[in-house]
Amino acid sequence: MWSVGVVTYMLLSGIMPFAGENWPERSANITGANYNYHDTTFDEISDLAKDFIDHLLILNPAGRMTASMALNHQWILNGPPKGRKAGHMKQARHNLKSYLANYRARWQRAGNVMIAAHRLRNQVGQRSTDAEKAPLQVT
Ligand SMILES: *[C@@H]1O[C@H](CO)[C@@H](O)[C@H](O)[C@H]1NC(C)=O
Repeated sequence: MWSVGVVTYMLLSGIMPFAGENWPERSANITGANYNYHDTTFDEISDLAKDFIDHLLILNPAGRMTASMALNHQWILNGPPKGRKAGHMKQARHNLKSYLANYRARWQRAGNVMIAAHRLRNQVGQRSTDAEKAPLQVT
């Protein structure tokens, strides 16, 4: 549900909720749930949408919206705002495009690291039961 909050934030703005000059800074912002709506892209995002995100980006999972609560949130129930032109959220789309262009390679690397970590965990699990397993290969 935390991830739903992050993805919603990103889809509405095209920017990441947790920034920082480098990983330690960003990491500190994540673990402190330190985000805001200062970017001008959020000027055209409704308070209800922000409320939806605010109930997901909560550090303590117990305080976070559940999936069924999210589905019953007023922002979801209301559906798309009436009378909006298709051109709205132009800035968000522009931000998203440049985000994807800049971060595709990074996400691919992060994905590879996660796949390697998953394999490692599985192999370590298997080794404890079968010491003759093939040597670990991380690509
Ligand atoms: C994140 O961390 C950096 C440095 O500590 C700070 O400049 C930035 O404003 C922080 N907040 C957000 C929401 O990214």
